[in-house]
Amino acid sequence: MILSIESSCDDSSIAITEIATKKLIFHRKISQELEHAKYGGVVPELASRLHAVDLPKLLEEAEPFLNDLKAVAVTNEPGLSVTLLEGVAMAQALSIAKDLPLIPINHLKAHIYSLFIEKEAIFPILVLLISGGHTMVLDVKGYDEIKVLATTMDDSFGESFDKVAKMMGLGYPGGPIVEKLALQGDSKKFSMPIPLQNSPKLAFSYSGIKNAVRLVVEANQPLDEETKADIAASFQKAAIAHLMQKSKKIFKELKPRNFAIVGGASANLAVRKAFTNLCEEFDCNIHLADLAYCSDNAAMVGRCAVDAYELKKFISALDIEVQPRTDV
Ligand code: KG4
Ligand code: ZN
Repeated sequence: MILSIESSCDDSSIAITEIATKKLIFHRKISQELEHAKYGGVVPELASRLHAVDLPKLLEEAEPFLNDLKAVAVTNEPGLSVTLLEGVAMAQALSIAKDLPLIPINHLKAHIYSLFIEKEAIFPILVLLISGGHTMVLDVKGYDEIKVLATTMDDSFGESFDKVAKMMGLGYPGGPIVEKLALQGDSKKFSMPIPLQNSPKLAFSYSGIKNAVRLVVEANQPLDEETKADIAASFQKAAIAHLMQKSKKIFKELKPRNFAIVGGASANLAVRKAFTNLCEEFDCNIHLADLAYCSDNAAMVGRCAVDAYELKKFISALDIEVQPRTDV
């Protein structure tokens, strides 16, 4: 079995995955969302202190499996350095004390593997990764064969939801709040620009929509409930239209047989619906991770680690480093 640890942002999580069957045996997660909500976003120093308290609690729960381990895996890139360090320190200690191979895991790769926790891996697959830190279209052919086809030039998709929620004083994380509010709003009420609409560039940009929302918010003070819902709906419609427009270009070019959406923001039902329709149009199979595995978790780290274990992607406990800003 492999013990996996996730602490790249504001979720502390530990999982146990069986190597031979790739099955998830144990999975626990403590989300810090409520703690950070008070500040309108993740406070790295607070997040790191909470990981230091919560990870040992989760490890204690995993105690019955600790004598059956063949390796320890941990997210070491990309993410917040001070929070990544908490998971890495625990993994180093376990690796040294129990003489176990240590597997460093890339967080973006782990999100891709969230698709394969409960079903067979599928390669090649075109993957849209939308989270708080990333907006990417990836051509995934295998563990080590991942090509970035498009990425964001500024804010990420999830981050733009967080910022829009903050502007309207709605709380953190903004994604689920804005999505819920959008259901009650009129998406035609405010016209929002669709970024890079006339550009051939295969890239994303969310700063323009965010600024458009800022102007609408400023012009409609004090915001009543109906206006907030209309802003949420108008914003979400433009944000998804942008994802769709650029993805459609890639679909036309690559004609993928399999497509997936992963990352925290892939929980968004309007996104899921829009891409389900796109896949129907292109006769492509759509794969969506279970909602429980969209946001950060150690189950996806563990599943990714099984493939890494088979490829012997080990590192010495003394050499592992955290990298806050790496690609996939
Ligand atoms: O993958 P994740 O848990 O953490 C990162 O690796 O960033 O993603 C969290 C991000 C946050 O920005 C959150 O607002 C966004 O995903 N998110 C959503 C939804 N649920 C979470 N964005 C849009 N709609 C949602 N339903
Ligand atoms: Zn993530």
